[in-house]
Amino acid sequence: MVIVHTIEALYEAKKAVVGSVGFVPTMGALHQGHLSLIQQARRENEILIVSIFVNPTQFLEGEDLDAYPRKDEADIQICTLAKVDILFMPSIEAMYEKDELCIGAPAIGGYILEGAKRAGHFDGMLQIVMKLLNLSGAKRAYFGKKDAQQLVLVMQMVKHYFMEVEIVPCEIVRDSLGLALSSRNIYLNEDEKKRALSLSKALKSATKMVMAGELESETIKKEMRLVLAQTDTIEYVAIVNRAFKPLESVEIGNTIILVAGQVGLPRLIDNIWI
Ligand code: PAJ
Repeated sequence: MVIVHTIEALYEAKKAVVGSVGFVPTMGALHQGHLSLIQQARRENEILIVSIFVNPTQFLEGEDLDAYPRKDEADIQICTLAKVDILFMPSIEAMYEKDELCIGAPAIGGYILEGAKRAGHFDGMLQIVMKLLNLSGAKRAYFGKKDAQQLVLVMQMVKHYFMEVEIVPCEIVRDSLGLALSSRNIYLNEDEKKRALSLSKALKSATKMVMAGELESETIKKEMRLVLAQTDTIEYVAIVNRAFKPLESVEIGNTIILVAGQVGLPRLIDNIWI
């Protein structure tokens, strides 16, 4: 594995390898969720590039940019074991100039749910993902369904800007009790971990209701809120279609049910695709 920190070094490293590129962008502090993307990309591509970059433009004022977990040494080991070819770990200066041209998330899709709570977050996310996709020259790029709204917006950007990369959605990885893995879970103590399970439990109860024939969104959301009472704050419970338009009733094969809430320090998000 070659580790590169600059754009020039990345281009040099790419020159030295031949074949179609699979790419996994991350912010590091890698866990089994990231690893599942990396392993899938390893299986499906000749060359595998992974990036680790804690992107400042997608953090809002007062968010945890400085406290975001950084584990470079462990991450390098994980990538080596996963047979990554090129690990790209750029500095902020390598990625950004002052007063840049920016792309923006769409007015509705980028500002509801996660985008309502974190206004502007998706602008910064799309900005860095556009840069990283262009730099990697990937044929396929892998994103987790865990960040469903991010995934859908990246797919829209690729479509609207005629980018020649296939975005591959990957399943959510959970721990044995059902908690969706996240770099921010390290902030949860034992009690909070237990209460954090209410997110996945609420999604399970929604799935059960749908399987039993209950399709009305309001009824499902009401039941989910009861399960979510164990969180400190419920931020949202939403039932949308795959383009993130709210649904009055579940459409099997075209629905995402999402929850967000605060438990202890971290905000947690989870979802299920039905
Ligand atoms: P990060 O939070 O590090 O996540 C990197 C990728 O791993 C994302 O596609 C995310 O959806 C996926 N992922 C995280 N937890 C997962 C889980 N439990 N199961 C499956 N996939 C999971 O998302 C970002 O970084 C950034 O916004 C980024 C796209 C890198 C742009 O800065």
